[in-house]
Amino acid sequence: MEPKRLVLSKISSSYYSEDRKLAVLNRVSLDVKAGEFVSLLGPSGSGKSTILKIAAGLLKPDRGRVFANGREVTGAVKVGYMPQQDLLLPWKTLLENCALPLLAEGKPRAESHRRVEKLLPVFGLAGFEGYYPGQLSGGMKQRAALLRTVLIDSNLMLLDEPFAALDTITRENLQEWMMSILHRFNRSVLFVTHSIDEAIYLSDRIYMISDRPGRIVTELMVGLPRPRSRTVVTSSRFLNYKQELMGALAGA
Ligand SMILES: Nc1ncnc2c1ncn2[C@@H]1O[C@H](COP(=O)(O)OP(=O)(O)OP(=O)(O)O)[C@@H](O)[C@H]1O
Ligand SMILES: [Mg+2]
Repeated sequence: MEPKRLVLSKISSSYYSEDRKLAVLNRVSLDVKAGEFVSLLGPSGSGKSTILKIAAGLLKPDRGRVFANGREVTGAVKVGYMPQQDLLLPWKTLLENCALPLLAEGKPRAESHRRVEKLLPVFGLAGFEGYYPGQLSGGMKQRAALLRTVLIDSNLMLLDEPFAALDTITRENLQEWMMSILHRFNRSVLFVTHSIDEAIYLSDRIYMISDRPGRIVTELMVGLPRPRSRTVVTSSRFLNYKQELMGALAGA
């Protein structure tokens, strides 16, 4: 059996304000195995981002337990977490922002910068290393945040719609690159997306979440062989998966 990198067991979670409780997750159980790419699909507001925050140890659920690499998560854990809103520091350049996780690990500045610089072309950011976030487009900020997340030395990545603000070509390039790097480094990913096509194309497994309070309504194993090429999206297997997920989403 593949070891499990992430396990969420019967998670229920709510947000509390002065006069009300908003139930967001209802007994959500899911896992991500070593080297596995798992997507979370579901309507807006169903609690997908909340699941990632709980998995990263940044939010404590009302009920249920979380394990990362076999250890129970009780506070923030070192994972490659990319929040839905990028968190680049406005007073640091793109290069400095991306180098932050390496510096935090105690790597020397020159080496950290070199490692970032090597990846800039892959993310279409070459030549912009000296720019501040305020001088970058939305998509560029998103790519910088993704580059930074990839540099975090962890076998588990939690990515919250990392490709949402990108045009199709950039999006497809990054999808290809992501699949190659994940394979190379045996990384596991929990990936949030609104796109059924993207989820099928990238994933080994997909969880569909219902409207709030979110619960898992469907779990789909994607049996498309790897490496995958773009033409797979027209195959009858792909279209069958799509139909199944569209049906589940309509009923979610
Ligand atoms: N910090 C917070 N305080 C109070 N309520 C919150 C907070 N964060 C999220 N919520 C509420 O929890 C629910 C789920 O939010 P969440 O961000 O997890 O949804 P989501 O599935 O990621 O949605 P989207 O697809 O739009 O990103 C929403 O109703 C939202 O208003
Ligand atoms: Mg979200």
